[in-house]
Amino acid sequence: SNVSQSYRTAYHFQPSKNWMNDPNGPMYYNGVYHLFYQYNPYGPLWGNISWGHSISYDLINWVHLDVALVPNEPYDINGCWSGSATILPSGEPVILYTGSDTNKHQLQNLAFPKNLSDPLLSEWIKSSQNPLLSPPEGIDPSSFRDPSTAWMGTDGQWRVVIGSEIDHHGMAILYKSKDFRHWTRTANPLHLSNKTIMWECPDFYPVSVNGKDGLDTSVQGKNDIRHVLKASFNNSDHYVVGNYDPKTDQYEVDTDFMDSKARLQYDYGRFYASKSFYDGKNKRRILWSWIDEDDSESDDIKKGWSGLQSIPRSIWLSGNGDRLVQWPVKELEKLRTQKVHFENKELKGGSVLEISGITASQADVEITFSLSNFNEAELLLNTEVVDPQILCTQKNASVSGSFGPFGLLLLASKDMIEYTAVFFRVFRGANDFRVLMCTDQSRSSLRSDVDKTIYGVFLDLDPRHAKISLRSLIDHSIVESFGGEGLACITARVYPKLAIKEQAQLYAFNNSTQSVSISSLSAWSMKKAQIVPIGKRRKLI
Ligand code: FRU
Repeated sequence: SNVSQSYRTAYHFQPSKNWMNDPNGPMYYNGVYHLFYQYNPYGPLWGNISWGHSISYDLINWVHLDVALVPNEPYDINGCWSGSATILPSGEPVILYTGSDTNKHQLQNLAFPKNLSDPLLSEWIKSSQNPLLSPPEGIDPSSFRDPSTAWMGTDGQWRVVIGSEIDHHGMAILYKSKDFRHWTRTANPLHLSNKTIMWECPDFYPVSVNGKDGLDTSVQGKNDIRHVLKASFNNSDHYVVGNYDPKTDQYEVDTDFMDSKARLQYDYGRFYASKSFYDGKNKRRILWSWIDEDDSESDDIKKGWSGLQSIPRSIWLSGNGDRLVQWPVKELEKLRTQKVHFENKELKGGSVLEISGITASQADVEITFSLSNFNEAELLLNTEVVDPQILCTQKNASVSGSFGPFGLLLLASKDMIEYTAVFFRVFRGANDFRVLMCTDQSRSSLRSDVDKTIYGVFLDLDPRHAKISLRSLIDHSIVESFGGEGLACITARVYPKLAIKEQAQLYAFNNSTQSVSISSLSAWSMKKAQIVPIGKRRKLI
């Protein structure tokens, strides 16, 4: 059990024990951040699904409150499943969530705070009008769930989308309401796709074309606003970017889900059932996600817990307006402590550089590389049809190329028997360059009973004009990596046997034939966040 507790994280959100999946109803209200989550109060496996509830003043330190919703009504007796919060114009926050009823049919229900003058909104009441929505004609009652945050159209009516499917293809059903209680299905869904399966946890929100500021979900605009639709399927969170007309509810997307060229995902590793919200305090949109375990159920029983939340990320539209950029919320930097820093260090081909002086199992690392002699890069043609994950798997961290692999070896044991490699490769195309980013877990653990998938993605940057940067958040059994200043992300769960706690090491490496230069490296030990039950709280920061 000593080894299994070494997988508990220090600065990622976790309940004290038991099962957790999707983030639910995140919001900023009256000076307080709220996070609800799918929670089993009675054990480390999925079941008895209730809404756990925690609050924070900075998104990093958290206080666990009592469970907010428990399955105790006929309309939710088989589980209070995922849902979202909306703040009404009156200032009252409300929750729409899915109940699994006595027949395991999925229904949408409303809940509101018992006492609005309680600053923590500790107690929630279910509406006497529940259930508000039942599966419509022609919709499978077991495929009708996960209401989004509602937005108001120019006609003053509320809209909400619900995850569903038609002929086994994903769809976001759209409903409208004048009073948030009586809802009517619109003639057409907001969007559907015959290239996907059932959609879980749809999210739909405006993003600004200019700058990083977030927008409240109901904000409508003309040329200065685009809309993102996210759907969860195939173990990943996929999104599309498009233009939404609030009068007709038409949503025109640039490229659709699963388009081979774009394949937009929030994260190309482990990251599912995410949800975003608008943070009015700091004018930003924030993304939360469930990060599942990659070990076995018997490990979860041994550990007594399962599931993490990602570090909350700020999200905004990239300069060319066709994809999102993500970055850990700035408050995380408060946890940075001992620091190592250097600049302009050459990393010769075939070399490894130890980065000592920080706690490598609990760290935040930023590294930037610069390259020259681009003509030496390997040729890679037809990159539109190359699957980056397969390329990372074939050319893993031990396969030497001319430019790559170079990057970080983290959660590494002293003798390098175990390590997780996060690295880049640069390829020359017919008339451009491509940067591949990979997370290779194949050597991450001596244990054979954990997942060791290799993940990969192409970064949308030209290495002749932009430096290649990587930020990795390392927290015992999770590594969240941000490539190209947030152009693409890869999250992985790793379970080392040797490289735990003080035994873990960190290295920069270059397994290429060419040398590369580290233009700068900054690495910090991270303090433990204060994530405690309300009775144990020392002070609220
Ligand atoms: C996504 C999901 C949701 C559902 C919830 C149940 O992980 O399957 O669709 O509401 O989890 O816990």
